[in-house]
Amino acid sequence: MVEPDQPSTGRMIDFWLGGDHHFPVDVAAAGAFEQAYGPCAQIFRELRAFLGRSVRAIAARGVDGFLVFGAGVPTMGNVHEVAAEATVLYTDVDPVTIRLGQRILAGSDRAGYGYGDATDIGTIDPAQLHRFVPGWGRRPVGVVFLGLAAFLDDETLARTLDELYAAAAPGSCLAVDFDSEELAGHPEALAMMGPAFRMRPPADFPALLGRWTPTEDGVVAVGDWRPEGRPASVPDAFYGAVAVRGDH
Ligand SMILES: C[S@@+](CC[C@H](N)C(=O)[O-])C[C@H]1O[C@@H](n2cnc3c(N)ncnc32)[C@H](O)[C@@H]1O
Repeated sequence: MVEPDQPSTGRMIDFWLGGDHHFPVDVAAAGAFEQAYGPCAQIFRELRAFLGRSVRAIAARGVDGFLVFGAGVPTMGNVHEVAAEATVLYTDVDPVTIRLGQRILAGSDRAGYGYGDATDIGTIDPAQLHRFVPGWGRRPVGVVFLGLAAFLDDETLARTLDELYAAAAPGSCLAVDFDSEELAGHPEALAMMGPAFRMRPPADFPALLGRWTPTEDGVVAVGDWRPEGRPASVPDAFYGAVAVRGDH
């Protein structure tokens, strides 16, 4: 594969998780970020563990099709690996990560990867959507929206989540996370996230979900969401929830 000249946060997370699907430019960016902030591997392991617990909880409700936005690299405990019976469509906007994902999933008949801008679900190839998320709009599905909210302003995020609510069938579930203000004390690291990056106070998170109703677990630091054992002692950089689409 042609090496990218720009890093991507999705591939940096693969590096932090100990995966094999990233490039020197991603490792360099991850190293620079850690210089400015501090060690990141454990924080992203906690976020990936939340993905695992939330996806398993959604699958336990009988959901067997998942649509993943801002998917990054589809390995290291990603959705089709934890929901082993489900079909999964991963989407992202980063062309290099999409090609990488398509290569990783080339042998899979139940998981695929394609272009999809979360802010406009019309950008997803309908053939891929109906192949990997059968019954989209007619039967309950899982929508995975992790590591993405921080790159959307409040208005875009609220509109996007509302459009997903309208498009998904009643009973569908959303796994979502938000970035806290953890980076406020690390201005150099914050600057590396780019001008679009949004930190938010945790009190703002529930309202951003709009019509999606969080489960009784609420919107909590990801390590505290149905923890299995004692949560690792890491900064509360991410808050997460599983939220359900009602009948209206
Ligand atoms: C921080 S990574 C998260 C990766 C993975 N979801 C995880 O939690 O480990 C954010 C990803 O969102 C993608 N992205 C950014 N803006 C997007 C958009 N508007 N629609 C879809 N993906 C987007 C980036 O290319 C990147 O792969």
